Amino acid sequence: MTFSDTHVLVTGGAGFIGSHTVDLLMAKGCKVSVLDNLSSGTLANLASWENHPRFAFVGGDVTQDITEAMAAAVARHGPIHRIAHFAAQTAVPISIDNPVTDIEVNLCGTTRVLEYARRNAVAKVVFASSSAVYDDDAPVPVSEESSARPSSPYGIDKLAAEIYLDYYARLYGVKFTALRFMNVYGPRQDPSSWYSGVISIFLDRAAAGEQITIFDDGEQTRDFVYVTDVANAVATALLGNAGDGAIINIGTGVEVTINEITRTILTLAKSRSAVQYAPARAGDIRRSVTTMDKATALLGFQAHINLREGLDHTLAWVRTAKST
Ligand code: UD1
Repeated sequence: MTFSDTHVLVTGGAGFIGSHTVDLLMAKGCKVSVLDNLSSGTLANLASWENHPRFAFVGGDVTQDITEAMAAAVARHGPIHRIAHFAAQTAVPISIDNPVTDIEVNLCGTTRVLEYARRNAVAKVVFASSSAVYDDDAPVPVSEESSARPSSPYGIDKLAAEIYLDYYARLYGVKFTALRFMNVYGPRQDPSSWYSGVISIFLDRAAAGEQITIFDDGEQTRDFVYVTDVANAVATALLGNAGDGAIINIGTGVEVTINEITRTILTLAKSRSAVQYAPARAGDIRRSVTTMDKATALLGFQAHINLREGLDHTLAWVRTAKST
C-alpha cells in the first residue's frame, strides 16, 4: 500500500525519533513536510531526502504560530492530512531546572500543533508521549491503567498534553493516538550532552575508552526500545485508524538494569572504559518496563529488534560517526 496522496507533517522531524519516522513515511510513499527549529535535530539526519520531490523542510518552532511557517510547504504539497508531533524538550533533568520552558515547548507547543490541526481539518495527530508520566511507585510492569503521577515537569507536561489531545478530539473531532515511549535508543541519538539518552552516552564513551558514570547504584531499570520499532508504531497509528483515541505504551516488555546495560556495552565495544558511580539524579524513576497487551491489540505492535542487535547497529553507527 502506498500513501502518495497523504501529506504528513512531522514536527521535530530532524531529530532522533522524528528522522527515523520520516525515513519510514518516505519509504511508504507519503508526502512529508518536516517542521524543526534544529535546536537538537540536524539536517544531516534528513540528508537522504533533501532534494526529493515529496519532501519539504520547514525551519520553524512550535513555540510560535506555525501557520505562516507551513505556508510554502502547503502551497507545494497541498493541505496537511496527518501530523506526527515529536518537537519537544526531551530531557527530564532540563525540565526540573526549567519547568516554565518545558511548559512552553512541550505543553504550549503541543496545543499550537492541535490548534493548527483543528483549523486545517487535519484528520489525526500522533503524539510522542512518555513513560515519564507514570508514578514512580506504580508497580511494574506499568500498563496504560497504571497511576500517572509524574516525578518531573517533563512528565507533567506530557500528561497534560495528552489531556489536550483528548479535549481536541471531543470538541473538534481531531483524532489522536498518544504513544508513551519507553526508553528509545538507536543511531542518530546525540551522545554529546550529559542529559542525552544513557545508551548513546555509554556507547560513545565505551568506543572512545573514556570513563562511564552510572548515577545511583545502577540497579534502576529501563525498557529500551529500538528506534525503528518505534517509527513503525508511529506509522501504524498515523496512517490509519489503529489506536484512534487511545493512549498506548511503546516498549519491549524487557526490564534491564543500568548495570547490565553497562556490562553488555563494554563487552560489545571491547572497551576498557572505567566505570564510576555518582549520586542519583533528581526526578529519575527507579523501575520502568511496560506491559505489551494494548500495543499488540490495537497496533499489532511487536518489537522486532532485540537489545543485543540494536546495540550492535548503534555501536556501528557511533563508530562511523566518530570516524567522519
Ligand atoms: C528517557 C528519555 C525521555 C523519555 C523517557 C521515557 C532521553 C534523554 N530521555 O528518560 O525523553 O521520555 O526516557 O521513559 O532519552 N544514566 C546514567 N548515566 C548517564 C546517563 C543516564 O547512569 O550518564 C541513568 C539515569 O540516571 C537513568 C537511566 O540511566 O536512571 C536512563 O536515563 P536517560 O537515558 O537520561 O533516560 P530517562 O531519564 O529514563
